[in-house]
Amino acid sequence: MTTKRETWNTHMGMIAAMIGTAIGLGNIWRFPYLCGKYGGATFLVPYVILLFGVAIFAMMCEWVLGRHTKRDPLGAFDKIRFPFGRDIGAWGIIGPFFLYSYYIVITSWVIFFIFASFEGLYFGRDTGEYFCSFLGSKSIFITHFFSVFVTSAILAMGVQKGIERACKIMIPALFVLLIVIAVRSVTLPGALEGVEFYMRPRWEGLFSPETWIAALGQVFFTLSLGMGAMLIYGSYLRDEWGIPMNALCVTLGNTSASILAGFAIFPAAFALGFGDIIGGSESIGLTFFVLPKVFEVMPGGHLFGGLFFILLTFGAVSSAISIQEPAIAWLKDEAGWSRPKSSVFTGIILWFMGIPFILNGFVKGGLGDKLALLSKMDVIIAQLAIPIFGIISIIAVGYFMQDRGFDEMNKNARVRLSKTPLKFWIRAVVPIFVGLLFILSLLKVLEDNHVIPAVLPTFRDMQFNSIGITPMTVFMIIFTALLFWGGFIFATVKVLTIEKDKKRKRDGHKHSG
Ligand code: PHE
Repeated sequence: MTTKRETWNTHMGMIAAMIGTAIGLGNIWRFPYLCGKYGGATFLVPYVILLFGVAIFAMMCEWVLGRHTKRDPLGAFDKIRFPFGRDIGAWGIIGPFFLYSYYIVITSWVIFFIFASFEGLYFGRDTGEYFCSFLGSKSIFITHFFSVFVTSAILAMGVQKGIERACKIMIPALFVLLIVIAVRSVTLPGALEGVEFYMRPRWEGLFSPETWIAALGQVFFTLSLGMGAMLIYGSYLRDEWGIPMNALCVTLGNTSASILAGFAIFPAAFALGFGDIIGGSESIGLTFFVLPKVFEVMPGGHLFGGLFFILLTFGAVSSAISIQEPAIAWLKDEAGWSRPKSSVFTGIILWFMGIPFILNGFVKGGLGDKLALLSKMDVIIAQLAIPIFGIISIIAVGYFMQDRGFDEMNKNARVRLSKTPLKFWIRAVVPIFVGLLFILSLLKVLEDNHVIPAVLPTFRDMQFNSIGITPMTVFMIIFTALLFWGGFIFATVKVLTIEKDKKRKRDGHKHSG
């Protein structure tokens, strides 16, 4: 393997590619669904704690592993002499197949909804029923095939860079559209109940390990961790870019999209009569029946709807190609296959692997039954496999790379992480904390809810109507807005000025030298 490795061309291009893999269905589909299931803001609290306490460190560690070794996941673990490095690294190749198999099925729903919106197929209908009947229709075979074909073709032609470039326009456009939809959603009559649900934590829910494990899975999933994707992307990072600030930028940018999606969905869900679905087994399709209803009550809804699903397709496809890429990179590097051959080969396997999820849609019953397989797979991958691999990356850096790893993390960084607390955090706090979460949730499963009382009320048990907007809700709204949107803008400006400044200095040196 050569030591000279491709890198991202520009700093902005790198940020766009990182945000491109991170922003996808995880933000618009998975986040609102889980947030609803685990009690709105009750979920947001562990989410924020785990995002900044664990996931951002895991992301920095994957980048360190990638940039330091300049290898694919398998080679990276091997190179740092991690025990069973190749076997563990192989997870970064095989795991993504399982993730992709259902991720692309959801992408194919999004693609179908582009047409459904432009054509107004769901307008004036019960969108829940409409979505349910779509799952048992032949159209899904077509959009599924099309989705797999698109990602494989992009990878075969090696034009991901083109997609990343397109995402530079599409993702900001998705943000703008989300803001428009969120404004429509919160101004609907009856929407405040949804805002209240989304933004007021019910502290009793915080004692449920289930909520924490779900949040742990989500923070890893949304940042594209534990699947080799961020590790490979990290291997294209240039040495002159400081890791900590850039990681903060990507984390905040990604999360602001999720928070916004919540504001687009929850107020509308309550205002438009989907309140009692939240938390139930059907809520896995929440996005696909709430947003269409919002488009219906929006002026120009056909257009907005179609446009929204087009932009979401870009988000989903740019994530899906990063999920398919590790296997292709490995087939190319290790088996010497060409890029087109590897793409077609992986595409065929991945197409097959998606079929069971589609067939599940043909069973009789409600949405919960039709999506049973998909939701099981999602729990296994996102709540188990992804966090475990993510934690292994942290351990690999903390215990196997040690100073090399910590130095790599701070290399050329203006904002440096002080080494002693960083070491303590990565080597002790994170593994113990996450280990404890796993043990608690395992106990809970084993003892069938008796170990820790099941304190998390389902939505049906909760009462909101009489409460109204409390000062706590207002506080949470201001807090999240400042933290994520304010923080994202601040971090981006900061990181861009740092890079500009460094570049000026380098150019100055060149001239004086
Ligand atoms: N982060 C992506 C999303 O939110 C999903 C993903 C997970 C992509 C893991 C790559 C690896 O949609």
